[in-house]
Amino acid sequence: MNKNLKCLISAGPTREWVDSVRFISNPSSGKMGYALASEAKKRGYSVVLVSGPVRLDKIEGISTHFVENAKEMELEMTNHFDSANIIIMCAAVSDHRPKNKKSGKIKKNDFAKSIDLVENPDILKGLGKRKKKGQLLVGFAAEAENFAQNAKQKLIQKNLDWIAMNDISNPSHGFGSDHNEIFLYSSTGEEVKLKSAPKNLLAKQIFEEILK
Ligand code: C5P
Repeated sequence: MNKNLKCLISAGPTREWVDSVRFISNPSSGKMGYALASEAKKRGYSVVLVSGPVRLDKIEGISTHFVENAKEMELEMTNHFDSANIIIMCAAVSDHRPKNKKSGKIKKNDFAKSIDLVENPDILKGLGKRKKKGQLLVGFAAEAENFAQNAKQKLIQKNLDWIAMNDISNPSHGFGSDHNEIFLYSSTGEEVKLKSAPKNLLAKQIFEEILK
């Protein structure tokens, strides 16, 4: 099978600490990324999974690197990128982080004033710049409006081969749910709708499409 081929996948949210007890994050469960990692393993790939904090069991036979924040995720993804054949950035990365993490607990009244934020690196965009011929780079996009247009723009801006878009305005899909509906767009103009299905089935279908 694909024994000598490496598949690098990111999953889950990132967590950006504000002080010792509070963080900025999002409700990503990591289920889609873990399902993709499982599917890649079934297909015989050597799989490296870079995971944010999730409540999922580690998958046997997959090299899993746990990270907490976007900077740590960027480091792990970059370290494994050059030797990977397929790279899927499924993680829901926080776009911002607090400028300074305060030690201890910020007092209620001070907290209400404001928190200085700085932008996190766009990990996927950085990977897109490093991409070499023969590497297949796949991103995800959670869109609430102008779905296709926004997703296709990201496909180009981040130099991706495919983008998997989900419509987060539909409450029965996406973040945390076991099911999803995905629209796949490729850099060569293909458009595929994967109808609502459990995430492990979608993972299988995504691999079938991107490897056609
Ligand atoms: O631009 P947007 O955040 O919608 O793009 C989503 C895609 O970019 C996902 O694949 C996500 O993993 C990735 N991303 C990233 N670094 C960020 C933000 C998003 O790699 N800081």
